[in-house]
Amino acid sequence: MNNGKGFFITGTDTGVGKTLVSCALLHAFAAGDNTVIGMKPVAAGCENGKWMDVELLVAASNVMAPREQVNPYALIPPLAPHIAAKQAGIEIEVEVIYQAYLALQSMAEIVVVEGAGGFLVPFSDRFDSSDLAQKLGLPVILVVGLRLGCINHALLTAQAVRAAGLTLAGWVANSIDPQMLKMEENIKALEQRLECPLIAYLPYMQPVDELRSSELLDITGLIKN
Ligand SMILES: Nc1ncnc2c1ncn2[C@@H]1O[C@H](COP(=O)(O)OP(=O)(O)OP(=O)(O)O)[C@@H](O)[C@H]1O
Ligand SMILES: [Mg+2]
Repeated sequence: MNNGKGFFITGTDTGVGKTLVSCALLHAFAAGDNTVIGMKPVAAGCENGKWMDVELLVAASNVMAPREQVNPYALIPPLAPHIAAKQAGIEIEVEVIYQAYLALQSMAEIVVVEGAGGFLVPFSDRFDSSDLAQKLGLPVILVVGLRLGCINHALLTAQAVRAAGLTLAGWVANSIDPQMLKMEENIKALEQRLECPLIAYLPYMQPVDELRSSELLDITGLIKN
């Protein structure tokens, strides 16, 4: 058995760096001698027979787990999950994801769960990403994709996380737009308002580098207790 730690990684939007940060966290925890598994409960968008987020999370994990537990729902079209599920004639069920998470938790000390899209993305007519985070009861890490408009998206997400009764364990400022103006001022504005630790500033990288990113993360506040 283990101490059952987990984190739920959400973002200000789709494509803001949740997978990069999830993988970097897995590497950072693993470097601290922890057993780690990445989980992508719902992946939508299959490329050449692969779901890239899942591939990357599996590669960054140091415990191998059954695919159906790492990724209980793999949807082919790159659509909003509840629409892709409806198209496939299935309903995404919170209990299935919960049971898969419990199984992973019994296999590793830390499970990093990557959400889909942003925090309120629906999974079915019955539940959404925030309900899932609540059911898992995990501290949330917010990835802010630094671009114009991100301050509002970040503050709305932080409000939704706290309204769900969850802890915002920290946030990551991820530079996804090399042309962004006044980046430092934006980060400062968020630091003043998010009321949780800044885990890292990740620069714009080409190509992206998970290991370099992992070294930039300050995980001390995440692993104490
Ligand atoms: N700091 C960065 N510098 C350069 N490119 C980045 C950076 N962070 C992320 N990217 C690139 O942006 C794209 C989206 O990143 P990523 O897949 O991590 O986002 P995501 O939030 O997980 O998306 P999704 O909602 O599809 O799961 C990827 O091509 C990734 O390589
Ligand atoms: Mg992703």
